[in-house]
Amino acid sequence: MTSYTLRKGAPEKTRADAVVIGVVRTGKGPQVAPGGEGVASAYGRKLVPMLSTMGFSGRVDEVVRVPTGGALRSPLLIVVGMGDEAGLDGAAVRRAAGVAMRSVANAASVALALPTLDDPQVQAVVEGAMLGGYSFTTYKSKQPGDRGEVPGEVVVLTDRARSAQAQQRVAAARAVSEATALARDWVNTPAGDLTPEKFADAVVAERKTRKPAKVKVSALGDAELKAQGFGGILGVGRGSANPPRLVRLSYAPRGAKTHLALVGKGITFDSGGLSIKPAKAMTTMKCDMAGAAAVLAATFAIAELGLPVRVSTFAPLAENMVSGDSTRPGDVLTMYGGATVEVLNTDAEGRLVLADALVLAREEQPDLILDVATLTGACITALGDRVAGILGNDEDLVTQTVAAGARAGEALWPLPITAEMPEKVRTRSKIADLMQHNTDGFGGTLYAAAFLQEFVGDRRWAHLDIAGPGFNTGGAYGHVPSGGTGFAVPTLVELATELAARD
Ligand code: BES
Ligand code: MN
Ligand code: ZN
Repeated sequence: MTSYTLRKGAPEKTRADAVVIGVVRTGKGPQVAPGGEGVASAYGRKLVPMLSTMGFSGRVDEVVRVPTGGALRSPLLIVVGMGDEAGLDGAAVRRAAGVAMRSVANAASVALALPTLDDPQVQAVVEGAMLGGYSFTTYKSKQPGDRGEVPGEVVVLTDRARSAQAQQRVAAARAVSEATALARDWVNTPAGDLTPEKFADAVVAERKTRKPAKVKVSALGDAELKAQGFGGILGVGRGSANPPRLVRLSYAPRGAKTHLALVGKGITFDSGGLSIKPAKAMTTMKCDMAGAAAVLAATFAIAELGLPVRVSTFAPLAENMVSGDSTRPGDVLTMYGGATVEVLNTDAEGRLVLADALVLAREEQPDLILDVATLTGACITALGDRVAGILGNDEDLVTQTVAAGARAGEALWPLPITAEMPEKVRTRSKIADLMQHNTDGFGGTLYAAAFLQEFVGDRRWAHLDIAGPGFNTGGAYGHVPSGGTGFAVPTLVELATELAARD
């Protein structure tokens, strides 16, 4: 277990195995970022020229390791680029701390002398360090001589060390990071080892590790789903030997005013079904439950922090597979609540399981509904793989969520639900109430959101399409590892924090 502590102290005097500072780019060239001044003065005027000699310019994610040769009390200086001085915000700080933690491999202790100009930046440093230190090793055989990659002791050097607010930020960082790591672990677990049943069991087990029990958990099985008419979840899951589940969490603290409903897409594997995916597109489809992982983990974090917000969370879990009993293109499903849907493409399965869960969420009369889903490849085409699309029926909620994301270090970008999309959803099927899929092939993200909108009724609702940022197919960057990212956990906790503060 790594310890994370805030301490007031001079970075040039710490005896930690490594000291981390940031460097920003300014009009006058690279400059040491706030927090690292003591290191800069210990080097006299030599630090920046030395960095330039090494070709270091302060670009985001750039990092150099410098043996100090006695210039500092610590033997190793790690310098992290933070980009333009003008863009130096909490997100840049979080990122830099993450980069630093991925560069400290064999240090037992590390001191971070990064900017902590306000309490949110204190949280950003701690959180970035915790998130950057993540690794998924469950399936790696231990090699002799392997050492834990994360230092046992991480000290954040800050003048705010003694403030109660700053300490509270450490607690928030811990709750967010642990929940994000939990979501990452679930996403990284191979689909064969995380069937709907095993995922549901894992959620129950997770709840048991948390005492006192603030969150109630329940799961509907195959028989209950049938009895209650969850046609979307059953229609998607019927081709799989692993039957579906619907997991619910409920956190209802005393004093809560706002009631937030969270819904997450939990396709434990997406083969595409009979509208089967090409082999290459299928390789990462264990990630298709990242939305469910995010909303479930975020709920635990919100409860852990004791935020006075009521949260009801719904995770429809199913495996989208091929068999002699799979749903066929052209089949009509009757969703929970009675709406009929003509299925045209069994690979557009996410909206089907979400529809059932949204109707169930709506029954609880929440003030707000947020759903999170790896829903459309089109969203990756539109926004790339580091930005989530956000769509909804309430501009204020969308704006508020985008702002929460920015504070939490996650990028969300609004997309519209243009008027022709609901029109198409409602009129294109000749035999059912709704058409599942847009055969035009344009605006796939918008159409999918318009489809979901049919199921939220008059509730204020926003939908996060995390098909891109939910899973990192490339190398690590900032505090984001390769593989499962836990995307949306920080944003959801930040949004809940704000809702609680507003009440
Ligand atoms: N799970 C996929 C979306 C996805 C793609 C997530 C890539 C992560 C990375 C989703 O179920 C899907 O297959 N969507 C189809 C929809 C289409 C058939 C309307 C897509 O995006 O191609
Ligand atoms: Mn699909
Ligand atoms: Zn899918």
